[in-house]
Amino acid sequence: MKSVVEIEDQFQLATYKKMPIAAERGEGVWIYTTDGDKYLDLYGGHAVAGTGHCHPHVVQAIREQSEKLLFYSNLVYSDARAGAAERLVSVAPTALTKAFFCNSGTEANENGMRMARMATGRENVITFSGGFHGRTADAISATFLGKYREIGKPNVPGHLEATFGDIESVRALVDDNVAAIMLEPIQSMAGVRMAQPAFYRELRELCDEHGVVLIYDEVQTGVGRTGEWFFAGSAAGDGVVPDVVTLAKALGSGVPVGACLVTEAISSHIKENDLGTTFGGGMLAMAAVTATLEAIQNDRMLANVKLVEAHLRERLREIEQVVAVRGLGLLLGIEFNDKAAPVHKALLEQKIITGTSSDANVLRLLPPLCLSAEHVDLFVAQLEKICTS
Ligand SMILES: Cc1ncc(COP(=O)(O)O)c(C=O)c1O
Repeated sequence: MKSVVEIEDQFQLATYKKMPIAAERGEGVWIYTTDGDKYLDLYGGHAVAGTGHCHPHVVQAIREQSEKLLFYSNLVYSDARAGAAERLVSVAPTALTKAFFCNSGTEANENGMRMARMATGRENVITFSGGFHGRTADAISATFLGKYREIGKPNVPGHLEATFGDIESVRALVDDNVAAIMLEPIQSMAGVRMAQPAFYRELRELCDEHGVVLIYDEVQTGVGRTGEWFFAGSAAGDGVVPDVVTLAKALGSGVPVGACLVTEAISSHIKENDLGTTFGGGMLAMAAVTATLEAIQNDRMLANVKLVEAHLRERLREIEQVVAVRGLGLLLGIEFNDKAAPVHKALLEQKIITGTSSDANVLRLLPPLCLSAEHVDLFVAQLEKICTS
């Protein structure tokens, strides 16, 4: 009989570099495989399992909603959608007053850029080297990282590249044709890179001065990952609130959903039929959003993220081969004095899932927000062994 790995390799396009494990079941920070193994998941299914795998509150909400109504379009009202929109806006910075729901991160970014163009009547968008924004036409054209723009050829015109953390490089590009500046406030794929708080403030001021829309792509940093609901408004970003925040990944705990949160000023430019998508705001996804936000709140996950981050940083000091720990909350990049890929592989052999990045020396951690100090100790013990062997 063929294994799961063999069947998938035969019938699925080979577009992913897969780990040789078959995930069957998940619970909290654990993934159980079809072979009966158990893995500590410090990758969170690519930052999606924010509430942990199969959080009982989320599972129950999805189950209950699925027995009532799986889907109806935005042409009718729904208590599931009303509840999700109200709750999402209630945890966002107060200037962000309206939500638009879609299905993924790339789609949220496409809509964010579109709204900026509609609000300003301009076309160009400035993004940053090292930023990743998705794989659909406009979002991939905004992605100045590795080979992505090349894959997306022909690119959408009007995308300009600035240097992350360097305000003068942005200033040199801003003119009356620029509709938006969009950034990952913490560049995840690039190796978890952050800018100084002053950079975010200077971007805000530059946008205000020139009538440019500031968009934070919080597909990874949003929904509690940094120990705050959003990077927008947080101290790490000098309290700056952008005009648009885009979300996906952890927003539905694994049920596909994306969103844009926008200010009144932006929403005043958006009219009927300007944006839309069939599945956006569907009842099942909306039930998942509400339950995800409730689970984070009920389990005090934001406070947990900060405690566990502090513990992890402390413990990693014991490992000589670790030269830096970058990032915030549970979006962390561990920089080694050598390549991270062998460490990633060795950890997997010890049944710990982590992530790599486009920086060869950086191992990425994007675990569930319910990670505990004990889980960290388990990880550090294995990492220590690997680094000294
Ligand atoms: C920061 C960021 N933006 C956008 C995306 C695209 O999201 P999706 O894969 O849901 O389209 C990703 C995905 O990894 C991301 O990390």
